[in-house]
Amino acid sequence: MAPAGTHAPLSLLLFHFLSPLIAASTAAPSPTAGAAQTPQELLLDFKASLQDPSGALSSWSRSTPYCNWPHITCTSTAATANATVSISLSLPGLSLSGDVSASSLCRVPGLVALSLASNGFNQTIPLQLSRCTSLVSLNLSAGAFWGPLPDQLGMLTSLTSLDLSGNSIEGQVPAGLAALGSLEVLDLGGNQLSGVLHPALFGNLTSLHFLDLSRNQFLESELPSELGKMGSLRWLFLQGSGFSGGIPESLLELEQLEVLDLSMNSLTGAMPPGFGIKFQKLMTLDLSQNGLSGPFPEEIGKCVMLQRFEVHDNAFTGELPAGLWSLPDLRVIRGENNRFSGQLPEFSGVQSRLEQVQLDNNSFSGGIPQSIGLIRTMYRFSASLNELNGSLPDNFCDSPAMSIVNISRNSLTGTIPEFKNCKRLVSLYLSGNAFTGPIPASLGDLPVLTYIDLSSNSLTGGIPAELQNLKLALLNVSYNQLSGRVPPSLISGLPAVFLQGNPGLCGPGLPNDCDAPLRKHQGLAVAATVASFVTGVTLLAVGAFAVCRRLQGSKSSPWKLVLFYPIRITGEEVFAGFHDKNIIGRGAFGKVYLIELQDGQSIAVKRLVNSGKLTSRARKNEMKVLAKIRHKNIAKMLGFCYSEGEVSVIYEHLQRGSLQDLICAPKFTMGWSDRVRIALGVAQGLVHLHHGHTPCVLHRDLKSSNVLLGDEFEPRVTGFGIDLVVGEKAYQSSLACDLNYKCYVAPEQNCTKKPTRFMDVYSFGVILLELVTGKPAEHPASDDSIDIVRWVRRRINVTDGASQILDPSVSRTAQKGMLAALELALRCTSVMPDQRPAMDEVVRSLEPLCFSVHPQTPLPTETALEP
Ligand SMILES: *[C@@H]1O[C@H](CO)[C@@H](O)[C@H](O)[C@H]1NC(C)=O
Ligand SMILES: *[C@@H]1O[C@H](CO)[C@@H](O)[C@H](O)[C@H]1NC(C)=O
Ligand SMILES: *[C@@H]1O[C@H](CO)[C@@H](O)[C@H](O)[C@H]1NC(C)=O
Ligand SMILES: *[C@@H]1O[C@H](CO)[C@@H](O)[C@H](O)[C@H]1NC(C)=O
Ligand SMILES: *[C@@H]1O[C@H](CO)[C@@H](O)[C@H](O)[C@H]1NC(C)=O
Ligand SMILES: *[C@@H]1O[C@H](CO)[C@@H](O)[C@H](O)[C@H]1NC(C)=O
Ligand SMILES: *[C@@H]1O[C@H](CO)[C@@H](O)[C@H](O)[C@H]1NC(C)=O
Ligand SMILES: *[C@@H]1O[C@H](CO)[C@@H](O)[C@H](O)[C@H]1NC(C)=O
Ligand SMILES: *[C@@H]1O[C@H](CO)[C@@H](O)[C@H](O)[C@H]1NC(C)=O
Ligand SMILES: *[C@@H]1O[C@H](CO)[C@@H](O)[C@H](O)[C@H]1NC(C)=O
Repeated sequence: MAPAGTHAPLSLLLFHFLSPLIAASTAAPSPTAGAAQTPQELLLDFKASLQDPSGALSSWSRSTPYCNWPHITCTSTAATANATVSISLSLPGLSLSGDVSASSLCRVPGLVALSLASNGFNQTIPLQLSRCTSLVSLNLSAGAFWGPLPDQLGMLTSLTSLDLSGNSIEGQVPAGLAALGSLEVLDLGGNQLSGVLHPALFGNLTSLHFLDLSRNQFLESELPSELGKMGSLRWLFLQGSGFSGGIPESLLELEQLEVLDLSMNSLTGAMPPGFGIKFQKLMTLDLSQNGLSGPFPEEIGKCVMLQRFEVHDNAFTGELPAGLWSLPDLRVIRGENNRFSGQLPEFSGVQSRLEQVQLDNNSFSGGIPQSIGLIRTMYRFSASLNELNGSLPDNFCDSPAMSIVNISRNSLTGTIPEFKNCKRLVSLYLSGNAFTGPIPASLGDLPVLTYIDLSSNSLTGGIPAELQNLKLALLNVSYNQLSGRVPPSLISGLPAVFLQGNPGLCGPGLPNDCDAPLRKHQGLAVAATVASFVTGVTLLAVGAFAVCRRLQGSKSSPWKLVLFYPIRITGEEVFAGFHDKNIIGRGAFGKVYLIELQDGQSIAVKRLVNSGKLTSRARKNEMKVLAKIRHKNIAKMLGFCYSEGEVSVIYEHLQRGSLQDLICAPKFTMGWSDRVRIALGVAQGLVHLHHGHTPCVLHRDLKSSNVLLGDEFEPRVTGFGIDLVVGEKAYQSSLACDLNYKCYVAPEQNCTKKPTRFMDVYSFGVILLELVTGKPAEHPASDDSIDIVRWVRRRINVTDGASQILDPSVSRTAQKGMLAALELALRCTSVMPDQRPAMDEVVRSLEPLCFSVHPQTPLPTETALEP
């Protein structure tokens, strides 16, 4: 509130707004306040006090009778001699705000219904509403009202319906509301009411048939025995409102109950004996998430209308009441997380309308009822973590509606039956039992099956190739006795596949490879004509650096050299450097040699084994593109060396070697700040490739061995653009032969031949994962043969998974940044290419991580080989 007298205009304004309010609260209508105003004028006054941004009330005007205005309903009560008119004002959801309290509303005669629900009033409940004594129905739900619930509302004694739900009303529920003896509907749900409820609120409101006090987490009451006096109650919603103590016996008297929801409270103790005996109309019973204990009374089996029985997350013991299972209308039984025991009875089969049975985490024993398969409506059956034994009935999954099955962690035996008829099955969890025999191939025919967990059983045989037909998100067959070749797309494809603990399984990437890996690195014959190549390259516009040196007696020498930078080397020397001891890397396209120059500098020469066939003009243009690329995070291409049969590309080399050398060193202990800087530098280099050129240059072979490190660990990306040198066809065929470094290759690369930026982003994501985990991409775990993407994905969803993933050698103070980088890496390695961020977005995400770690370090711009 504004301090009095500080602002003359404001206090004037306040007075202006308050005056009708003051008038309204004086006893008799004062003539100056417009006692003579017509309903029309009063309603226009009310309208004037509202903010109506959408113009919903714009057609309220003097020119039409108010009974014709939108949102107003007039009912003529001709039955009484006076023939007065009842007015209902229904203004829900019109984006209204403004000062309702300044209104003249309550002076409108015959106002019986007012709804201001679902608007944005942002004010306390106007006290003046207590003057609208003709109101029968008041609805302020979700109107953004806050503050206390005024006791004065108890003056609206004609009210039969009061809905204040979904606001931010706080404080106690005033006992004065107990005077509203005619109330049939009272909804105070979803507010912030607190304190203890006055018993008269239950004992006096005997006409109520709808009572909702739910979701008022600060209430702290016991259920009063007065509840039993509300004999007309049909709907009772008291969930999530801090009720404690026991369930009073008087509740059993509420014969009209259709819905009873006491869930999410702190109720304790045993159910009152006979609970349910009089609930002939009860359709929904929800007692879940309390601390109720003891056996559940048998009488619930007499509630013939019952559709939902939810008692999960309590401490009930004993058997589920036998009568329950055969209730004709029952759809849902939720009893999970209790201590129920005994056997599951046979159901009434075809007649049953059960849709959902959840009994996980109890102590049920015995077999799975044969009759489950007969229930045509069954959609979800879960009974995991019990002591069920015996085998699965053959018809177990016969319900055409069945979608979710979870009977993991029981003692079930026998084989898994054919699941042929449940064409809607999405999720099948059978893990942790003692199932034997093969995985039924017919699972592959279930069109929407997405999650399969058969782990920790004793299944034998192979993994059926038919499972490749499914669009799986999870396949867990670990810890069985499966054997044979794993269907290829289950290993390389998109689902998270868990195969460990099956020593007999083999396939690419598994410890057991089925057959010895085939290496095919035969240099394919190169038929490239390079006659006009030299002239083409010498014309290259690469500034003053372009130097072309021919060897003496070049006619006879097979080695020709084209340099874009003045380095002292001859083609002969390059060739002489192709010695095994100089090899610093191997890739799909050949080996990389490190060659020392006479002046002590060194260069890296990539000797391409398969340089393909290209027209001279195309080659010229490609060389031009590559030679022009300049960026502090891109290693320079210094030149070429070529002969009739092969081409070698000369790159600058940095003393510190490659990122892969570092990561694979016996002890990789780089601090987080250096790792982020490497990631950022690589990302910046890629941005330059992707966005700094038209047409854009794709790297296509990004991996940690192609990230060279300079001083201060400033990275330079090398090995890019080989496709432009050798040609697409040769590039593809080399790639296809390469068994190494598959882990950097985006999954879609197999299906689409057209390279995209997204594939580079994927490779970058793999490098980022290496930096975050401190583990090499190919074999992050020595005891496992999966690549790093899978290694991380397997851990990411388990509790505390992230802490297993992050490199423990990095200080914990860096954890926040590492988690952010991990998240980014996961996005980059998303299986869906379009969900990966673009490289410039990656840079924007990494920059804050880098600078928060290393606020002042200037980025080095010197280059190792700059002349
Ligand atoms: C008309 O209503 C007034 C007050 O509501 C009442 O006093 C009066 O008796 C009524 N007249 C008739 C004819 O019912
Ligand atoms: C409600 O009004 C207060 C000032 O009275 C304002 O600070 C707040 O932002 C408003 N809330 C909404 C949701 O408009
Ligand atoms: C109050 O108004 C809202 C919005 O129109 C409506 O959904 C709700 O049913 C009304 N409450 C009562 C008790 O009629
Ligand atoms: C409850 O109703 C009785 C009469 O029926 C009345 O005397 C009492 O004041 C009411 N209680 C409250 C709190 O209004
Ligand atoms: C099983 O239920 C008990 C309560 O009966 C609960 O404490 C426990 O967390 C539940 N276990 C699982 C795995 O949900
Ligand atoms: C199946 O049950 C197990 C054991 O209670 C539980 O851990 C798992 O989350 C459940 N799976 C699904 C999909 O509900
Ligand atoms: C299942 O377990 C019960 C004991 O809980 C035992 O009596 C019964 O023989 C078992 N049934 C099978 C098929 O193993
Ligand atoms: C796969 O099954 C094994 C063995 O039951 C379990 O340890 C692992 O957590 C499961 N993985 C997933 C993702 O469900
Ligand atoms: C790639 O596709 C071929 C068939 O086109 C298939 O044989 C091969 O296993 C696939 N490889 C991967 C890694 O998906
Ligand atoms: C892992 O969790 C993410 C969301 O947290 C989910 O989208 C993904 O499907 C989960 N993966 C597995 C294998 O459960």
